Amino acid sequence: MLSPCFKDRNMDICTRFVVLFCLMGLTCAVPVKFIDCGSSSGKVSIVDIDPCASQPCQLQKGQAYSVNVTFSSAVDSQTSKAVVHGIIAGVPIPFPIPIEDGCKSGIQCPIQKQQNYHYLNSLPVKKEYPAIKLVVEWELRDDNKQDLFCIRFPVQIVS
Ligand SMILES: *[C@@H]1O[C@H](CO)[C@@H](O)[C@H](O)[C@H]1NC(C)=O
Repeated sequence: MLSPCFKDRNMDICTRFVVLFCLMGLTCAVPVKFIDCGSSSGKVSIVDIDPCASQPCQLQKGQAYSVNVTFSSAVDSQTSKAVVHGIIAGVPIPFPIPIEDGCKSGIQCPIQKQQNYHYLNSLPVKKEYPAIKLVVEWELRDDNKQDLFCIRFPVQIVS
């Protein structure tokens, strides 16, 4: 993988760098560990959640988090649509996001084969959500409803 943070034994060093960056007032965005859940129309290289100082990301109720998924497309596509689920105890529950249109989320459409893209969106954490650990599944679907990316990463909602 591209980032040293993907290797557990380097996590400590990585965490120290992040703390240092944050202290210096620079961005606290860190690549998060994710699993690919079937990106058949593309390939994901980096997933950034900001802020996320330690993993799993602690998501404060009432806050919004920025999500930045760097991927390359394997297909041409006029459209892209995001579908987000929260997986709680193995059950996927639809997780509404304000902007579903990927073409309005940092991606210039039409999407072209072999191009790299940064998908940028916000993950709003509502006050009424329970304070639990869950897995976020984020898909971006192409014209044929195939996944340009499908990623899963664990988060913890905190009060
Ligand atoms: C998104 O992430 C990529 C890779 O880390 C980075 O190059 C790019 O600047 C980021 N974009 C934004 C708007 O943060």
